[in-house]
Amino acid sequence: MSDNILALEGVTKIFNAGTLDEKRALDHIDLKVVPGDFITIIGSNGAGKSTLLNVIAGTYLPDDGRIMIAHQDVTRAPEHRRARYIARVFQNPTMGTAADMTIEENLSIAELRGKRRRLKWGVTEARRKRYSEILKVLDLGLEDRLKQPVGLLSGGQRQSMTLLMTTLTLPQLLLLDEHTAALDPRTAAKVIELTETMVTQHKLTTLMITHNMNQALRYGNRMIMLHQGRIQIDVQGDEKQQLTVREVIDKFGTTLKDETLLACGPTPS
Ligand SMILES: Nc1ncnc2c1ncn2[C@@H]1O[C@H](COP(=O)(O)OP(=O)(O)OP(=O)(O)O)[C@@H](O)[C@H]1O
Ligand SMILES: [Mg+2]
Repeated sequence: MSDNILALEGVTKIFNAGTLDEKRALDHIDLKVVPGDFITIIGSNGAGKSTLLNVIAGTYLPDDGRIMIAHQDVTRAPEHRRARYIARVFQNPTMGTAADMTIEENLSIAELRGKRRRLKWGVTEARRKRYSEILKVLDLGLEDRLKQPVGLLSGGQRQSMTLLMTTLTLPQLLLLDEHTAALDPRTAAKVIELTETMVTQHKLTTLMITHNMNQALRYGNRMIMLHQGRIQIDVQGDEKQQLTVREVIDKFGTTLKDETLLACGPTPS
């Protein structure tokens, strides 16, 4: 048996099949992911990045191919049946947390989610103490605001909370879809640092979509680039370490016409 935590074989997703709007969003994707892989994903608008995460999570079922998570064939499994393997963070900071509930209630729910045992819901003194400890790691002062509704927090604080909550259950797969795109540059930088800390500390197998090529090259051990539903670049290890934004642009710039290029920032020499 292979040690892949995730394997896609020939995964194809076609939207609006047989109509004028037919779109082959994923075209025979083969991808094998081993535990601890931190993979960054780049590609133009409409390249198929979000669709890739959506078929892995079961939001959409593929039209062809096979998807295995933790050696289980989940190709036809609905989203809720895969939820215990997967944590996701999206672009919109309001999506990962419940605004009307307090910080400690959100953490408590996150902790119990996916647990089969019937644990009592509610915030015990012991839990409160532990939440306070883990919130300190964020260095945002949230440990003193446990009883405040999450809706009062800023976007960056909420994305940080969402990330922290994903680590409470230690998912087999963490899927990040431009999770810093809605934040101002400074906050985005902090959240990306936090992401790296959590991913490495907990050895979380992670797929992270970003439009920032510097980020894509700097973080993770592997980078893939999608173009028209296919994997066009797949680099890892030393090869990825040595790759520069300039090289990617020189080789593939014509397929990266959008903000992926603009978001590169100054090209490191
Ligand atoms: N639910 C849907 N119904 C119809 N077409 C869709 C749907 N979701 C995605 N598509 C189409 O599939 C293609 C891939 O979309 P996807 O959202 O995966 O791109 P992306 O790489 O995430 O782009 P972006 O960088 O803009 O987020 C696009 O042409 C898109 O219009
Ligand atoms: Mg997308």
